Amino acid sequence: MARITLRQLLDHAAEHGYGVPAFNINNMEQVLAIISAARAVEAPVILQASRGARAYAHDLMLAKMVEAAEAIAPEIPICLHQDHGNDEATCLSAIQHGFTSVMMDGSLEADAKTPASYEYNLAITARVAAMAHMVGVSVEGELGVLGSLEHGQAEAEDGHGAEGALSREQLLTDPDQAEAFVRATGVDALAIAMGTSHGAYKFSRRPDGEILAMDVIRAINARMPGLHLVMHGSSSVPQELQDAFNRAGGRMPQTWGVPIEEIQAGIRHGVRKVNIDTDCRLAMAAELRRVGQQNLAEFDPRKFLAPAMAALEALCKRRFEEFGTAGRAPHIRTIGLAEMARRYRSGALGQRFPSPAARAA
Ligand code: G3H
Ligand code: 13P
Ligand code: ZN
Repeated sequence: MARITLRQLLDHAAEHGYGVPAFNINNMEQVLAIISAARAVEAPVILQASRGARAYAHDLMLAKMVEAAEAIAPEIPICLHQDHGNDEATCLSAIQHGFTSVMMDGSLEADAKTPASYEYNLAITARVAAMAHMVGVSVEGELGVLGSLEHGQAEAEDGHGAEGALSREQLLTDPDQAEAFVRATGVDALAIAMGTSHGAYKFSRRPDGEILAMDVIRAINARMPGLHLVMHGSSSVPQELQDAFNRAGGRMPQTWGVPIEEIQAGIRHGVRKVNIDTDCRLAMAAELRRVGQQNLAEFDPRKFLAPAMAALEALCKRRFEEFGTAGRAPHIRTIGLAEMARRYRSGALGQRFPSPAARAA
């Protein structure tokens, strides 16, 4: 069994200067394809499930699939992470099902739509961190609201995400506030807002610093070099996948995602977890459409799903290589939850950055 906590994995990534993709899972085919890719390049991996995924696949099915993945690939450290937990109950029930990490996304209220106040976010995130750490589970918080700097709109999609217009202050994480938030909540990793958003339609042109605020990452990293940063909405929406999807009869308007070079620059400045769902969906959907278009008589689901899995596996391998995750698995010995809990209790996993006074000295 090689289930790993987010904290241990990101500490290793920070020590060795790499990033780890967090791929969303909803079904067996995605789990198998991602695990095959991880094995092929010897990469540790974060499998993350949204609330939507948990409802779609059923908690027990997801838990058993990840257990099976561990048995199939015992040499691969696997972190099972709750993506965008909206309240304490979501995070705690994930832990009951074997998740070794939870995101408490207090940037939005429990309806996962209404931007929350800083005070609300801080209080709920601190509560979840205290409870999760008691049992050794890691916690990701979020400060700032995901949305577009191009048009100032939030990114409500699939029932998740803020709705309507957002101010620039809401769309960009403030480094001072980030430091106060991390110190007060004790989170292991922090998701930040910097102009990325979920889904395929992130940017209407190749993003520059105006609409993809990489300077936020650099500023937070300069203040807290030991803090693990998380980039959400980090699909690159590659042109070749858009073309493949459209060649097979899809209708995806031209769009731009987050360029790989920008993610790599982020990794040089403290980004350790990179969330990718849309690219995985697109890779699979392009193949599903291709098979459907090329063979109108086909009705065996495996004939659709096997090429879709192959496309997802190829994409995941590429991301492991691009983020420097490949080849790291053999060098990680996973630490169990009980030992992680003991380390939190003893203070060994406490603050990882100098106090403002020490920094000034
Ligand atoms: O949070 C965004 C991820 O892409 C998950 O999406 O809520 O449709 O499963 P979902
Ligand atoms: P993408 O939609 O860019 O893949 O982002 C996924 C994500 O951030 C999940 O939390
Ligand atoms: Zn996200």
